[in-house]
Amino acid sequence: MADVATFDAQAVTEAVAEGIEKIKNASTMEELKAIKTQYAGADSAMTKASKAIGALPKDQKKDAGKLMGKLRADFGRAFGTKEQEVKAAEEAAKLAAEAVDMTQPVRRHPLGARHPLPKLMEDVQDFFISMGWQVADGPEVETEWYDFDALNFGPDHPARQMQDTFYIKGNQAKDAAGFVGSNMVMRTQTSSDQVRALITRGVPLYIACTGRVFRTDELDATHTPVFHQCEALAVDKHLTMADLKGVLDKLAVAMFGPEAKSRLRPSYFPFTEPSAELDLWFPDKKGGPGWIEWGGCGMVNPNVLKSAGLDPTVYSGFAFGVGIERTLLLRHDINDMHDLVEGDVRFSEQFAMGE
Ligand code: DAH
Repeated sequence: MADVATFDAQAVTEAVAEGIEKIKNASTMEELKAIKTQYAGADSAMTKASKAIGALPKDQKKDAGKLMGKLRADFGRAFGTKEQEVKAAEEAAKLAAEAVDMTQPVRRHPLGARHPLPKLMEDVQDFFISMGWQVADGPEVETEWYDFDALNFGPDHPARQMQDTFYIKGNQAKDAAGFVGSNMVMRTQTSSDQVRALITRGVPLYIACTGRVFRTDELDATHTPVFHQCEALAVDKHLTMADLKGVLDKLAVAMFGPEAKSRLRPSYFPFTEPSAELDLWFPDKKGGPGWIEWGGCGMVNPNVLKSAGLDPTVYSGFAFGVGIERTLLLRHDINDMHDLVEGDVRFSEQFAMGE
């Protein structure tokens, strides 16, 4: 028993007091664990003192036991309190480091919106498809032949003049179909697809052609040099103006609602005979409901059918053309063409609902 330390009340009390002081100053769990090992571990003064009690005379054992119980309790209480404090602080620091600020604005690309013109052209195409018609398309750089000659425009027709039509400089058609030598133009109308479709698709033919057309207009509130049209052409046996009128009324309702209807006024186009201006009954017209000009139409001129190699005594047809911009301006009460061409997404966003 020689190496069993003697019980020294003062020394162990001081050692424990020192440990408690260190506990108070500790700020991490690691420090706390080290203090616990040093002051309450197997080699600590406290453990040694407890063991030394056994060697004390009987009358001193009780007091020594009491003292050790108190020291152990003091140390344990100080340790427990500090441990809770340090754990809470460490937890709070961890949470703060991992915090996500839910109010922070999320960076993402703005969605934008489709331009209403292509959207409207799809709606128009859907209308024709719902009637079993085909959607056709022709080139924007077109032969003068398809744009004018085949449609019965005379050689001196004013529409051909340079101030109306963009000609492609120095470029002449080299077309296998025999239109070699025809000038090339930016198509001035989607009617240019009439004879092309008759030749390539044959009859009976029911087509709609939507797309871009070009004229030498300046951009102002009602004109733009690049705009869009929808051309419709039906060629079959026994077609009459009643068929034309029926389709026009249906298109008017599809575009403008159940109250819409169409009216024909006699007019002239080289490629139709008889020809008519197409008016639209417009309930929302400024200053009260009334008729508004919407496009042109007529029965296909026999010369056009002949351009496509068809016999006009067997086949007849009707055609009409409406401006897509005009349809959009009327439908949404837009007053300035600039809004349609400037490409400001805030304009397009107004039409983005329900796509
Ligand atoms: N192509 C004509 C224009 O651009 C519109 C038009 C009028 C088309 C009468 C037609 C029609 O099919 O029959 O002004």
